[in-house]
Amino acid sequence: MTEKELITLGIETSCDETAVAVLRGPHQVLSSLVASQDDIHGVHGGIVPELACRRHVELIHPLTLSALEKAKVGLEDIGLVAVTRGPGLVGALLVGLSYAKALAWAAGLPLVGVNHLEGHVYSALVHEPRTPLPCLVLMVSGGHTELFIMEASYSLTWLGGTRDDAAGEAFDKVARLLGLGYPGGPIVDKMAREGKAVYDVPVALKSQDTLEFSFSGPKTAVKNIINGLNKETPGRLPVADICASFQSAVALALYGKTRLAAQKHKPVSIAVVGGVARNSAVREKIGALGRELGIPVTIPPPDLCTDNAVMIAAAGAGLFIRDRSNPAFRDFTQMDAKPSWLPGVQLK
Ligand code: KG4
Ligand code: ZN
Repeated sequence: MTEKELITLGIETSCDETAVAVLRGPHQVLSSLVASQDDIHGVHGGIVPELACRRHVELIHPLTLSALEKAKVGLEDIGLVAVTRGPGLVGALLVGLSYAKALAWAAGLPLVGVNHLEGHVYSALVHEPRTPLPCLVLMVSGGHTELFIMEASYSLTWLGGTRDDAAGEAFDKVARLLGLGYPGGPIVDKMAREGKAVYDVPVALKSQDTLEFSFSGPKTAVKNIINGLNKETPGRLPVADICASFQSAVALALYGKTRLAAQKHKPVSIAVVGGVARNSAVREKIGALGRELGIPVTIPPPDLCTDNAVMIAAAGAGLFIRDRSNPAFRDFTQMDAKPSWLPGVQLK
């Protein structure tokens, strides 16, 4: 079977989205289904792992059947199963992994265990397969904020990450402080567009020569601003302006470190991936950076930024095609979940 003919079934259950996709070759999406669990976690203001696992168990099989039907393929057409092996919530990962192992074993198919973050990175290549390399990748999600350089396809070097909160996590916490609901990122983004960045939210590590980020400081600054305003003018919080101030500080921090990484590593393109790549200010600032440096910026469409199984299928297909005869793809029954797993070679 050629690379272009390979049909991959991708499965993602690392956190609070149950997702299944069918992909032909490395980039052609035949179907992509994502069942969000925002309804069950929203009332708790954050993800409840036990509830996430139960919902994955209920949904994984019917969602797989629907994804195959939508793609107009049967299990007999599938050439590869790709599943998220980590990082993520261990119980949630195990639901997808156990299901994928059972399915692949019963159907006599090879199985690839994919790193979720590597999946996010490859969402950029699904969107723009001709992204020139080396590409500087800014990965911003609910659990991670990392910079990688992709020298060649499937060759990532980790350049730096957050010291504390991830960018998405900080968005969610700020939304909770303002009583805006969960997940907070999209709501803060929407409110910010109606406000002005009039409050002083610091951009952490701004002038330091490091590729690390820090988002707990800006979050605490927002908390202090809210407390101060609540004393001055109780019950009349300027929510839109607070959101705009916080969002602008986050976008500036991401811009600053991506710029510094570009100066150090001289990429010929930039990609922004992960849930926070949906953010309007982040898209705008990194887009401006690309124009400033004269290099293209790839940002996948919103549905490919947040968790999905297309990116898992794409990363799995790429890994399999590079190394088809690797016995690990057939000998997977002992494969374990990896709740903490940073991809790529780390810089010394
Ligand atoms: O990549 P993702 O779906 O899941 C993880 O792997 O973590 O990212 C989810 C995160 C959440 O924190 C959510 O609030 C954030 O992405 N997010 C946003 C926006 N849309 C989603 N953050 C800021 N602005 C947005 N428009
Ligand atoms: Zn993710």
